[in-house]
Amino acid sequence: MTRRVYIKTYGCQMNVYDSQRMADVLKPLGYAPSETPEAADLVILNTCHIREKAGEKVYSELGRLAKLKADKDGMMIAVAGCTAQAEGEEIVRRAPSVDIVVGPQAYHRLPQMIAEIHRGAGRALDTDFPALDKFDVLPCESGQQGVAQFLTVQEGCDKFCTFCVVPYTRGAEYSRPAQAILDEARRMVAGGAREITLLGQNVNAYRGAAAGGTWGLGRLIRALAEIEDLRRIRYTTSHPRDVDDDLIAAHRDVPQLMPFLHLPVQSGSDRVLTAMNRKHTADDYRRVVDRLRAARADLQLSSDFIVGFPGETDADFEATMALVRETVFAQAFSFKYSRRPGTPGAAMPKQIAEDAKDARLQALQELLIAQQTRFNRSLVGTTIQVLFDKPGRHAGQVGGRSPFLQAVHVDGPTELIGTMAEVEIEAASQNSLSGRLAPAHAEAA
Ligand code: SAH
Ligand code: SF4
Ligand code: F3S
Repeated sequence: MTRRVYIKTYGCQMNVYDSQRMADVLKPLGYAPSETPEAADLVILNTCHIREKAGEKVYSELGRLAKLKADKDGMMIAVAGCTAQAEGEEIVRRAPSVDIVVGPQAYHRLPQMIAEIHRGAGRALDTDFPALDKFDVLPCESGQQGVAQFLTVQEGCDKFCTFCVVPYTRGAEYSRPAQAILDEARRMVAGGAREITLLGQNVNAYRGAAAGGTWGLGRLIRALAEIEDLRRIRYTTSHPRDVDDDLIAAHRDVPQLMPFLHLPVQSGSDRVLTAMNRKHTADDYRRVVDRLRAARADLQLSSDFIVGFPGETDADFEATMALVRETVFAQAFSFKYSRRPGTPGAAMPKQIAEDAKDARLQALQELLIAQQTRFNRSLVGTTIQVLFDKPGRHAGQVGGRSPFLQAVHVDGPTELIGTMAEVEIEAASQNSLSGRLAPAHAEAA
């Protein structure tokens, strides 16, 4: 019997990866993907808990789904992801329509939970951090086809930044063995992947078991670079404290490692960084950036910023602005501090008023957007390598990514998808580039 599953994914790339693994684990049970919740027998919300808004979205979505379920015999609703982990009991209480609550470390138990409900066992909640590694039991063969894919190499975080829920929702740092990652990467490439982004909450804290000892991320990247037809390697999200010499050397030595790095700093004020328990100063960050840029001159940076952390003064915020002006980012994400229950930051005095947060966010975003636009425009007139991964917005166009992760649109046939070609950049906006194929250099797949 064919059943259908609809998975809605919120939050970070690791949730995107996990949603794919959930689809894999449900396939043997006869679940095929559904395009809409209406056509599905099982709806899974893979949730994010990082900021208050993200957490609240779940309940409004569950309200809509409850109505759908009322009209549909036998439909099941599951809540997975970080909000499930953080608020499992509350979800069960607030949303009677929910059948299954499953935390990020328990996805391999989904089939069993579904079977129990079919047997009439009532509702199921599993938010344990089992001793058994979920990666050992989740299938990774994956019918997933895609030119650019995500591969989780590390999960969890031991850093305990005082604003952040991730150490509680994803648990302690865990690194997958190198061989399992290499095997999965080879399967992805055999299935058409040409770019792989290695994922981890703290990906450069990777310390994976390998033949002959433990590998760090730099060593893993070198091994991945030997896979034929894997053209591009990226990794995210890294922590400034865990950028080691070997990783910097990999940026120098491995051409497949793209010259673009997401390296969150959060604030430019040492006072705030200490209160955040970031374990690095603003100057530590500057030094790491200098070393990375010395290793790879064309390296571009992205970052995350939080404004309005408890106790942040105008002078602290100005230090963040100064760091941004000085460092220059090709792209960045910035957020107003969101008070998360259970984190130390939530209990700190001197919480910042919403209107002050708004003003700081606006000033910071103006600066970051100006830097991003300037960088995009600086590429006009140059020729860059683009990896095409999807049809373009308009008929006759294809879309791809630059080495710096910018979206690039060109006129060209969809046969280009899965190949790299040189593109002469003709125009740039805040969010994308466009250009034309450089005929002399167009590369045969
Ligand atoms: N593991 C990654 C990503 C964590 S979440 C890392 O260490 O960088 C992604 C970003 O969300 C963080 O870098 C931070 O800027 C932001 N963030 C996390 N908790 C937040 C909170 N309580 N309020 C506002 N932004 C937050
Ligand atoms: Fe959260 Fe900090 Fe860990 Fe990143 S390093 S996941 S911000 S606790
Ligand atoms: Fe959100 Fe969890 Fe990712 S809180 S950002 S889905 S690790």
